[in-house]
Amino acid sequence: MGMEASSAGLKIQPRAKYPCRCALTKLLPFLLILFTLLIICHFTASPFTNPSSPSWPFPNLYNPTYSSQSKLVESLTAKLKDSITFLPLKDLRYSNSPMEGNTWFMSSLNSTIEENEPKYLYFPSNSSKGRVLCFKGSHSSDGTKNSYALAWPEALPPSATLLEGLTFVSNTYWNHDNILHGLNAIAPFVSWSMKNQCMKPSRWVLLHWGEVEPKMGSWVRNLAKALFGDVGVEIFGKGDGPYCFEKAVVMRHDLEGIGAQKKLKVFELLRCKAREACGVDPMEMKERGVPTIRMTLLLRRGARSFKNEEVVKSLFRKECERVEGCVLSVIQSDGLSFCDQVRAMTNTDILVSPHGAQQTNMLFMERGSSVMEFFPKGWLEHAGIGQYIYHWMATDTGMKHQGAWRDSVGEECPNPKQELECFFFHKDKKIGRNETYFAEWARKVLNEVRITKLEQASKKYVRLSGCEC
Ligand SMILES: *[C@@H]1O[C@H](CO)[C@@H](O)[C@H](O)[C@H]1NC(C)=O
Ligand SMILES: *[C@@H]1O[C@H](CO)[C@@H](O)[C@H](O)[C@H]1NC(C)=O
Ligand SMILES: *[C@@H]1O[C@H](CO)[C@@H](O)[C@H](O)[C@H]1NC(C)=O
Repeated sequence: MGMEASSAGLKIQPRAKYPCRCALTKLLPFLLILFTLLIICHFTASPFTNPSSPSWPFPNLYNPTYSSQSKLVESLTAKLKDSITFLPLKDLRYSNSPMEGNTWFMSSLNSTIEENEPKYLYFPSNSSKGRVLCFKGSHSSDGTKNSYALAWPEALPPSATLLEGLTFVSNTYWNHDNILHGLNAIAPFVSWSMKNQCMKPSRWVLLHWGEVEPKMGSWVRNLAKALFGDVGVEIFGKGDGPYCFEKAVVMRHDLEGIGAQKKLKVFELLRCKAREACGVDPMEMKERGVPTIRMTLLLRRGARSFKNEEVVKSLFRKECERVEGCVLSVIQSDGLSFCDQVRAMTNTDILVSPHGAQQTNMLFMERGSSVMEFFPKGWLEHAGIGQYIYHWMATDTGMKHQGAWRDSVGEECPNPKQELECFFFHKDKKIGRNETYFAEWARKVLNEVRITKLEQASKKYVRLSGCEC
C-alpha cells in the first residue's frame, strides 16, 4: 500500500452544490436503473397483481415524458429523504469493549485503514457511496440520545442544516480537556491533514462517548489553534433538526494505527507550529557557542508534588552547578500560559518532573531531550500499564525517557487486595526522595547530555526551514 495509492483515494470530491437541476442530472442514471428494475419487478410480479391496479404509481410508464420523470424524481427523492435511518451515536451493545473494532461510536461504520496512518472515516467517500454524514441531537451527558445517519447530498433528511466545508469530528473515550488526552485526540487529525495538503477544518465537533462537548481545554485549544487556526466548536445549538456535514473526517481511535515514524512527524509539526504561534525561536540558546545544558524542574502543587520541594530543588541545583554550562530552571506547572509552557520546554534539555499531565509539555522540547519521572509509592503495584504513558509519549515524540524513580516509603493501603481502591489510595500522594539516588541519577543524565551536546556543537548546525504545514 503505497502512499500514492492511498492519498489518491482521499482526493476530496469537488465542493458539492445542491441546486435542483444538478441534483436531477446526478440522480437520473440511478433513477433510470430503479425505473427499469421497477418495470422488471412489475412484469415478474405475482399473477395476482393486476398491472393496471391503481396502486401502480406511474401512469405514464409506456410513454414517459419529461414532466412525469421529473415528478418521479421528486417522489423518489422524497422517499430517499424519508428512508434515512438515524442510529444512536453510542452503541450500548459494545459497552464491554467500547474501544475495540469499530468502537461503540458510530459502530455500524468501518474505519478506513491505511498503513501507518490513523484509522479514520471520511464522508462523502466511495465507502459511504457518496453519502454525507448527518448528526441529530446535542445531548451532553448521554451519547445514546444523539444519533447519526448517512444521506445523499441530493436528499438530505427533512429540515436538515448543511454545515459547509470540512468538519473534524473527534470522538474520544477520554476527553478534550486534559492535555494528554486532548493531544491524543487531535493528533490523528494532524496526521490526516499532513497527508491531505495540510487541509484545515471549518469547525470541530467534539464528542466523548457520543456526548457533545462544547470546548477543548485551554492548552489543547491553543495547540489546535496553532495548527488549524481559530475555528469554532459546533454544538448544534440552532434547533433540533439534523445537521449534515458537507465533508467530514471522523476520528475515534486516538493514535491507534499511526506508525512510529509518522508519530514523530506529527509531533514535530505540533512542536513547530506551537513555537511559531508563540514566537519562540529554538535557536536562541544554541547560537551562544558554549553548549548550554538546560535542566528544568517542572513542579506540581498538591497531588503528586514533592514532600519537600526545597531539598529536591537544592539537590538538583547542586548537581547542575557541577557541570559546565548547566542552567537550572524551577517552574510551577500551574499558572503558566500555553506560550510560557512552550517557551520553557523549548529551552529544556532535561525535564525533571513528577508523573502528571504537565509532562505532556515534553512535546515542545527538541528531539532527543531527556525526561526524568517520579512516582509516589504504590503506583508500580496498582496503577497498571497506564503509568507508562509518559514513557510511551517520550518514544512517540522522540525524547529519551531516562527512567523513573518510585517512592517506596509511605502509608500502606488498607485493603491491599483491592486493586482499584489501592490505586486511588496512592494515586495523588506526595513524593518523597532518596538523595543518594537523585544525585547519582542527575549526574548520570547530565553527563550523558553534556557529551551529546558537545558532539552536536562540533557539527555545523543546520537551520531547519519552516514547519511542514
Ligand atoms: C472511488 O471511485 C472512483 C470512481 O469509481 C474511482 O476512480 C476512485 O479510484 C475510487 N477511490 C477509491 C479510494 O477507491
Ligand atoms: C465492515 O467490516 C466487516 C469485517 O471486515 C465486514 O464484514 C462488513 O461488511 C463491513 N461493513 C461495512 C458497512 O462496510
Ligand atoms: C537510595 O538509593 C541508593 C542508591 O541507589 C540505594 O542504595 C538505597 O538503598 C536507597 N535507599 C532507600 C531508602 O531506598
